[in-house]
Amino acid sequence: MIKNICCIGAGYVGGPTMAVIAQKCPHIKVTVVDLNEKRIAAWNDQDVNNIPIYEPGLSDVVAEARGRNLFFSTEVDKAIDEADMIFISVNTPTKTYGVGKGMAADLKYIELCARQIARVAKTDKIVVEKSTLPVRTASAIKEILEHTGNGVQFQILSNPEFLAEGTAIEDLFAPDRVLIGGDTSAEGQKAIETLVAIYANWVPRDKILTTNVWSSELSKLTANAFLAQRVSSINALSELCEKTGADVNEVARAIGMDSRIGSKFLKSSVGFGGSCFQKDILNLVYIAKSYGLNEVADYWEQVIIMNDHQKRRFAKNIIKTLYNTVSGKKIAFLGWAFKKDTNDTRESAAIYVADDLLSEQATIAVYDPKVGEEQIQFDLNYLETRSEDANKKGVQVVDNAYEACKDAHAIAVLTEWDEFKTYDWQKIYDNMLKPAFVFDGRNILDKKELEKIGFIYQGIGSR
Ligand code: UDX
Ligand code: ADP
Repeated sequence: MIKNICCIGAGYVGGPTMAVIAQKCPHIKVTVVDLNEKRIAAWNDQDVNNIPIYEPGLSDVVAEARGRNLFFSTEVDKAIDEADMIFISVNTPTKTYGVGKGMAADLKYIELCARQIARVAKTDKIVVEKSTLPVRTASAIKEILEHTGNGVQFQILSNPEFLAEGTAIEDLFAPDRVLIGGDTSAEGQKAIETLVAIYANWVPRDKILTTNVWSSELSKLTANAFLAQRVSSINALSELCEKTGADVNEVARAIGMDSRIGSKFLKSSVGFGGSCFQKDILNLVYIAKSYGLNEVADYWEQVIIMNDHQKRRFAKNIIKTLYNTVSGKKIAFLGWAFKKDTNDTRESAAIYVADDLLSEQATIAVYDPKVGEEQIQFDLNYLETRSEDANKKGVQVVDNAYEACKDAHAIAVLTEWDEFKTYDWQKIYDNMLKPAFVFDGRNILDKKELEKIGFIYQGIGSR
């Protein structure tokens, strides 16, 4: 039986997942380690509201388990040494250099982890890959671990995470399924059962699937590719709706009632973001290409091409509607996070829309309930389109929507935060320059109500 778990990586996946395992399994000591001292200090902050990740319900779970059987630390070696089971939950960004640049996953953090485990481990361990990884990473980890020469036995499991940010705690409490891939040998099966037993503390057995390692790894990429494909599919149709006079919300509702299609994940938007969709599809494309499967690669790549087009087209439409120039005009951004209920901004559409508008010399005022100036400037600087000074000059970050919209020519809704729906829109209108435009990239505001006030309203996918 497992008594001691270590998780390497205290990010959006490792943090919430381990907090829930610790809460549900008080008999297991769970230590989450990270090289980032600032992040660990925030996880250990006396005030549980200051933990580094915003997720509804997470602070309650941390408050219950932290100090009891949940610990956050920078002592990576010590935690590895003490653990019977090690989760690898480090980031696997898309490569920014060399072979596979812009497509393949950068596995350097994973490899570093494997080498560290190999160096430190003195007793047998089960190593669980939790990060999204391209197919066949487990075998690389295995090779590194098996060549340690110190007689320690390792079992490698793949246990992809399916939580969505913003609903991570709900998803972890009641997952649609838990997937565990392992070696088909007797030892592999035993390792699988050990991990099954941990989840069985709160997940019904029939929702815990076990497969071979490769199926598990590929299932994760496939699930994200299918989900992203749905968003790109509805977004592709949103453009056609705008031309023809059909309404994408009505189309989504009509097709969603077909039980074979289903109603979820059919919301047209300014484009999907987040750390997973794009990265995982690029991975899939890269893997397919590396096997010479060009048609397969092209098929999936189109999902990304469509998503890029959707972001660009949103910015272009703002420019066109504002009489073909936004130079010197103030545009208010409501939302910066890639979706509501998270402070994560990775690959958020807002970044790209802002970048395009700044290139047209607009000035932007951003308000997001959970994202601050430092992160927003970081995201823009990361693109390297213009100098840090220019980004600072062009983008003002404020702490409420009314201020963001004051004296603006237009409002762009980039994230579907619930609070946006509760605003006094008459008051916002009164303080804007006229004509006042709303570009609703999430279709969350009430078109009729806004038009009654006097706004010129454009949602995605309708006229
Ligand atoms: C996703 C997967 O859902 C999750 O299972 C996996 O573990 C990680 O990747 P996440 O990226 O956190 O989760 O959020 P998700 O809810 O999937 O949204 C991704 C993006 O798609 C967001 O930008 C969201 O706004 C967008 N989206 C989603 C739409 O534009 N329309 C929709 O109908 C659904
Ligand atoms: P994810 O969304 O996959 O959880 P994050 O970037 O939020 O990704 O978190 C990954 C975490 O892993 C980061 O906090 C990073 O500092 C940490 N990390 C990366 N490599 C190592 C390593 N070798 N040892 C410990 N922590 C690491």
